[in-house]
Amino acid sequence: MPPQRQLLEIAGTRNSIQITDDNSRTLIDPVTGVAFHSASGALAETRHVYLHNSGVEERLAQGVSTDVLEVGLGTGLGMLLTVDEAVGGNAPLDYHALELDLLPVGVLRALKLQTGLKTSAVCESYLDWYESTLFAAGQGSYCWKYNEHVTVTIHHHDAREFQFSKAGCFDAIYFDPFAPAVNEELWAEEFLGRMRALMREGGHLVTYCVSRRVKNALKASGFEINCIPGPVGGKREVMRAIRRA
Ligand SMILES: C[S@@+](CC[C@H](N)C(=O)[O-])C[C@H]1O[C@@H](n2cnc3c(N)ncnc32)[C@H](O)[C@@H]1O
Repeated sequence: MPPQRQLLEIAGTRNSIQITDDNSRTLIDPVTGVAFHSASGALAETRHVYLHNSGVEERLAQGVSTDVLEVGLGTGLGMLLTVDEAVGGNAPLDYHALELDLLPVGVLRALKLQTGLKTSAVCESYLDWYESTLFAAGQGSYCWKYNEHVTVTIHHHDAREFQFSKAGCFDAIYFDPFAPAVNEELWAEEFLGRMRALMREGGHLVTYCVSRRVKNALKASGFEINCIPGPVGGKREVMRAIRRA
């Protein structure tokens, strides 16, 4: 029998909070089973698959200036952990995230995202800005500046249609849409090729999915692919795809 994880209802929304195995929280649609993170640990998965495997954690710890793009901002957990590392390492960070559906701020607060951070003021500052500036605005690109070195731009757009003005500028892409069965077009060769064009040579696109179809699409769009071990207690393998010359 699969383990039963605790679910907490959130009034007025379709998603419930799921308590994952490392005690961190994620969102899950109890009807479809579509979740924002792995049930084996939302925090552990995000740290391992995105911050660690992309090399971003190490760069920021060494104070190296870093440009990150996230496809699927969702709860903001990946972004907040990255900002937290940049603040800790005193490293310049330019973070961009694409998101189609912004979650209500009450849902974000219920997730207790500050729990995984060393500097909890990062989360408070973000949620205040999110509530006052981002959530009420329509589609567009909005900038949150945590300090003079750390900038986050949220593109409230459909990733399939959004065009970045600059190419070849990202050191890492956190590729985190829902699974291919839900977000099919984002896992297709055409979209992955656009992601590759946005990256610097040697840049890493990291994701949780290692299905044969995704491996083939990544290879066809020109990436070198590497299946590497997943987080402890989570998926056996996850993906690191590298943009070579
Ligand atoms: C797995 S969740 C992302 C989890 C997130 N990285 C986090 O740390 O919470 C997938 C996200 O992709 C977003 N998404 C799905 N299709 C999209 C699209 N076409 N354009 C932009 N965002 C999309 C969803 O709204 C959802 O928030």
